[in-house]
Amino acid sequence: MSYVALQGGHSANGGSRMGYETVDFARLQTPGNVLTFGRFETPGLSLSGVNLIVVPSAEHAAHLAADRVWEVLAAEGQRVIGTATGGTMEPIWGEIHRRLVPVSLDCRQLVAVGLDEYVGLPPDCPQSYRAENLRNLGPLARFGFNPAENLHLPTTWNAGEGRPLTNEELLIECGRYERTVGENRPAVQLLGIGSDGHIGFSMPWSAKSSPASGTHLVTLSTETREANARFFGGDINAVPKHALTMGLGTLHHMAEAGAQLLLVATGQAKQDALFAALCGPVWSGCPASFLRLFPNVTVIADEAAAARLIR
Ligand code: F6R
Repeated sequence: MSYVALQGGHSANGGSRMGYETVDFARLQTPGNVLTFGRFETPGLSLSGVNLIVVPSAEHAAHLAADRVWEVLAAEGQRVIGTATGGTMEPIWGEIHRRLVPVSLDCRQLVAVGLDEYVGLPPDCPQSYRAENLRNLGPLARFGFNPAENLHLPTTWNAGEGRPLTNEELLIECGRYERTVGENRPAVQLLGIGSDGHIGFSMPWSAKSSPASGTHLVTLSTETREANARFFGGDINAVPKHALTMGLGTLHHMAEAGAQLLLVATGQAKQDALFAALCGPVWSGCPASFLRLFPNVTVIADEAAAARLIR
């Protein structure tokens, strides 16, 4: 494991304006790096294929993640960004939207693939992940991004008949979506982490939370539904009980094919999950722990989320 101290000061290329050098993500091809502002010492930290970057605040984390997403958005030609949803992603997209104002991009060949979608919500429901992705990616439409064609998410709703897909239809959709992701390999796949250690919606203790699992139907854990109730007016009963999600196997294949899996963890509520993911056993009890078996994984954590890793 090598330790790399980030230097203070502004980046020359204007990428990050947070008072530290822009991280050269290419340098993170070698796994096991730790980049941190503070002192860092965690016995038992077993990063394996993971690079860990600890920054002082959630704002720094959002800027750093936005730097990496921006590299994909500003590239030319056919390229794919893998999106996630949830509170952690909001400031990242907020930062990207701010950066869009003075620039011109060509997003005509940009493709986005989302991690997951609730079952039971029509796509135009504001809490659906299609709607959230449209809010995040919508500002790219003026640069030619075409969400109708190029935003892919698991389909869980029969729009023609105005009803959720049946279980049988959902299983067929899992296979279809797995193929879609296989045909659209992201350069970067954003990931959040649940306070119960889920990534995507691969749930703790599920037999499907194994690196062999592709896109699958999940029953959301109570902890996940409680956490997400804030997006449903605080009413846990309004949070769907099921979702379709990319599996750990989907993410593994993606990483093997060269995608960078970029996990962002911010806030105290994530510290136990992040500790379990990086220091605990690799097991379905903490689905994020399987990331340690994958290549090309970078974790950006703020000090609050990394508190149990920093001594
Ligand atoms: C969202 C997703 C989830 C979230 C996780 C954290 O597409 O797949 O894994 O990333 O639940 O959510 P927040 O960021 O709201 O704490």
